[in-house]
Amino acid sequence: MESNIVRPDPRLKPTSAKSIMHASSLSHAFDYPLFENVDINIHERESIAVLGVSGSGKSTLLHILATLLKPQHGEVIYDKGFMYEQGDKRLLDIRRNDIGIIFQSHYLFKGFTVQENLEISSLISGQTLDMGLIKKLKIEDTLQQNVSDLSGGQQQRVSIARVMLKKPKLIFADEPTGNLDRQTANDVMDVMLEYVTKHHAGLFIVTHDEKIASRCNSAYRLQDKRLTAVIA
Ligand SMILES: Nc1ncnc2c1ncn2[C@@H]1O[C@H](COP(=O)(O)OP(=O)(O)O)[C@@H](O)[C@H]1O
Ligand SMILES: [Mg+2]
Repeated sequence: MESNIVRPDPRLKPTSAKSIMHASSLSHAFDYPLFENVDINIHERESIAVLGVSGSGKSTLLHILATLLKPQHGEVIYDKGFMYEQGDKRLLDIRRNDIGIIFQSHYLFKGFTVQENLEISSLISGQTLDMGLIKKLKIEDTLQQNVSDLSGGQQQRVSIARVMLKKPKLIFADEPTGNLDRQTANDVMDVMLEYVTKHHAGLFIVTHDEKIASRCNSAYRLQDKRLTAVIA
């Protein structure tokens, strides 16, 4: 039985921060209704975790917020506009420039080295390679290795580095620490939380791990088609 107590650290809660993304009355169904009338507001420097059993619709919710799926009902408002009513070109621009998505399975260019994978990201975003970030993710010694030769945890950290090198305004992470040991999972959370604070960005993370969720400003559980706060 999953406990409902996550106890996010209230000291981390940002005060009077600007909203980056606002989603209201989101409903979505596939074979069965996943969620109804869900509201989410992501502020600058805010981290939000969503817990829930497998199949509850966490990834679907993340995809809706991250430009990848138009909700059946409800609105996502980003940069003063309705995200899904501005045309594919604008949606692609938002996805490319403002949003970083970390998936459960990592999409790296197999056959290329870690450095090449990271350089592709820097090239696309026009950002320089940030060695500090690479060191914090403990992948500096893997730069010349082929990504296919890395462990699952190392590949995951490369994919996280790749997303963060884009300097996104919002990071959406779907079970980003799922295949990492506790220590590495915490290191990865350190990097993401520090990034969000420093760059006035927002983090929306889906996780099974209550310890990870408790490190965010707020935690919710997707259950019975609703998003319920699990703040102590
Ligand atoms: N593109 C899709 N087409 C049909 N069913 C889907 C699709 N995406 C997800 N589902 C179904 O919706 C339910 C919720 O999926 P998902 O959002 O991935 O849940 P979670 O991430 O909480 O495990 C699952 O039953 C899944 O099979
Ligand atoms: Mg999922």
